[in-house]
Amino acid sequence: MNVENQRFVFLSIFIFISVCLGEDYDIDDKTGFGRSFDGIGGLSGGGATSRLLVNYAEPYRSQILDYLFKPKFGASLQILKVEIGGDAQTTDGTEPSHMHYEDDENYFRGYEWWLMREAKKRNPNIILIGLPWAFPGWVGNGENWPYDFPDITASYVVSWILGAKQYHDLDIDYVGIWNERSFNSKYIKLLRYTLDKSGLERVKIIASDNLWEPIASVLIDDKQLQDAVEVLGVHYPGTNTVPEALKTGKKLWSSEDYSTFNDNVGGGCWARILNQNYVNGKMTATISWNLIASYYEDLPFGRDGLMTANEPWSGNYVVESPIWITAHTTQFTEPGWTYLQTVGHFTYGGSYVALTDKRGNLTIITETMTHDHSVCIRPPLHPYNVTVQIVTFHLKGTFASISELQVWHSKFDFKTNQTVLFQNLKPIKVIKGYFSIEIDVDEVYTFTTVTNGQKGSYPDPPPSAPFPKTYKDHFDVPGNPYFSEAPNFADQTGVFEYFTNVSDPGPHVYTLRQMVTQRPVTWVADADQTISVIGDYKWYDLMVSCDVYMEAVDSGGVFIAVRVDKGGGRVRNTKGIFFWVYADGTYKVTNDLSGMTVLAEGLSGTKAYVWYTLTLTVKGNYASADLNGYPLWKNAILWEPRHGWAAIGTSSFELAQFDNFAIQALA
Ligand SMILES: *[C@@H]1O[C@H](CO)[C@@H](O)[C@H](O)[C@H]1NC(C)=O
Ligand SMILES: *[C@@H]1O[C@H](CO)[C@@H](O)[C@H](O)[C@H]1NC(C)=O
Ligand SMILES: *[C@@H]1O[C@H](CO)[C@@H](O)[C@H](O)[C@H]1NC(C)=O
Ligand SMILES: *[C@@H]1O[C@H](CO)[C@@H](O)[C@H](O)[C@H]1NC(C)=O
Repeated sequence: MNVENQRFVFLSIFIFISVCLGEDYDIDDKTGFGRSFDGIGGLSGGGATSRLLVNYAEPYRSQILDYLFKPKFGASLQILKVEIGGDAQTTDGTEPSHMHYEDDENYFRGYEWWLMREAKKRNPNIILIGLPWAFPGWVGNGENWPYDFPDITASYVVSWILGAKQYHDLDIDYVGIWNERSFNSKYIKLLRYTLDKSGLERVKIIASDNLWEPIASVLIDDKQLQDAVEVLGVHYPGTNTVPEALKTGKKLWSSEDYSTFNDNVGGGCWARILNQNYVNGKMTATISWNLIASYYEDLPFGRDGLMTANEPWSGNYVVESPIWITAHTTQFTEPGWTYLQTVGHFTYGGSYVALTDKRGNLTIITETMTHDHSVCIRPPLHPYNVTVQIVTFHLKGTFASISELQVWHSKFDFKTNQTVLFQNLKPIKVIKGYFSIEIDVDEVYTFTTVTNGQKGSYPDPPPSAPFPKTYKDHFDVPGNPYFSEAPNFADQTGVFEYFTNVSDPGPHVYTLRQMVTQRPVTWVADADQTISVIGDYKWYDLMVSCDVYMEAVDSGGVFIAVRVDKGGGRVRNTKGIFFWVYADGTYKVTNDLSGMTVLAEGLSGTKAYVWYTLTLTVKGNYASADLNGYPLWKNAILWEPRHGWAAIGTSSFELAQFDNFAIQALA
């Protein structure tokens, strides 16, 4: 160390020693490189988490997409992972399959195709991943299991990848097995074989999107499986790996992580795991479930996304702190950069990573998140301490000649709420390879040679507003609709799609149709009925009306409902006020979706292939209903639930159509 260095270090110590603890950390590429960096991403789906996003009006929808995907603007995401829809409930709703039936193929359903195209438009290098949670019933041949006929499952998944290319010019880079469920070695090898046979050698396999074990140990003992699998993908690893996973020599990814309410503690969680997934667990990619909280907040895991956009009716959205925490890494790295071996924990708490493009660029990211301000939803976080500290970095090797670094700063100040996010500070001088900085708790810094980072912004979106009290949808969407589902309807079992009856000369040419006719290979316990919810969860007094058309002759039944209180994985236990008519000429009023609690029943004269208008009015403890404008029953007495969404649905997995849906909130 020469005299000038000594003086600099001495000066740092002199200034800071009395107030604060300090330590030196080398940043060096001469000691060798670490693993190759694969990116930071978001997961749309698993399930239906982007449901409300497509229905935002411009310019807000494009603004939101820019915050997520546009390079050097907001989160600058490097990976987009999507659900391969399987017609079944997968956490916050169902996503449609590209093959509802064995002889059916349609690559324009849902919104994941659209989302992938929008992401690619902004960042042509974004890495695309597809993963199934559930499968249409025919894939399991009636069994609730996808591996009895692994060749059918493999070709079903491969058809989705081929369709992405054929219809959307999207190259899928990676495909997974079965989200958070068993894997089957035979299936994985068959999937590899089917991909190769289809000219998709470039599509790599991630396994098993669950825990490290047993996949890691099974892989070590199976050479053929090793050849088939490119990446070990784990969920919610708590930043740690296991020796067997390291022993496989495979890339290790946290292929689903975060899932935390997106306030500043959520931001702290995300900052801590983005660094420590590599420092502790050698994971080179981290993917947030979910990408964006674009589902009704009262569904399970409300607001567990990198940002929030769940009000297409108002245009309001919120760029939450995890967006800017992501930017600290993504705006100053690219997949293909390499971690240095000089990464680790700070002596007084927190961590640092360093990455290089091996062409002279260096990015260092530090985080000093305190325990209570960075707890993620899972797994439990063991206690630890962080204090304010002086950090001195000593740049060596290729980086010894760097004289200045750009500085980006975030700070969660829970005492004053003076949170600073992704602020560009004055560049820091590096003197003879050294720079020092006092780092407080709950801070993130990026020090980098990359000069073109940017904190993008748009004017504030419109203010938040409740769902409109008066709402109508005639589902009249001629031509090729932009997407297959009607705005604001959030399917919780079954799939409701725009439908055109070309031979209908009457008023019901354009309708909404429930399409799933067989119980899917499920991921959670879907209801035995189909249901799509809409509106404001706080609604209590409400009038709903809808034209309905049963297509199942003997057993058909449809309903409209209010005060619907559950969705997601709890959909089987949904309560509400349900008004059903059946093709056998009867009606029912029930207090639950399963139909166990009957409030009223009788004859309606209804049958299949006839349109009827149903109206349901609920005020206080009383409900009444009209059929084709005539009172059918009234003053059914009910006590709970007190509030909830409106809904439509069918009494089983059966075809049925809906038209002229209308809501009037009465209070
Ligand atoms: C760093 O990256 C930029 C592109 O981001 C490149 O132009 C430059 O040559 C790289 N190397 C250095 C030493 O800055
Ligand atoms: C954190 O610091 C407190 C106070 O100094 C100490 O009692 C506690 O044991 C420390 N916790 C850990 C996990 O080091
Ligand atoms: C900071 O914000 C939180 C959440 O909005 C609030 O509960 C708390 O009272 C605020 N603290 C201060 C000091 O303003
Ligand atoms: C289409 O419309 C025709 C004429 O109204 C009707 O007979 C037929 O049942 C309808 N088909 C469907 C699937 O709605």
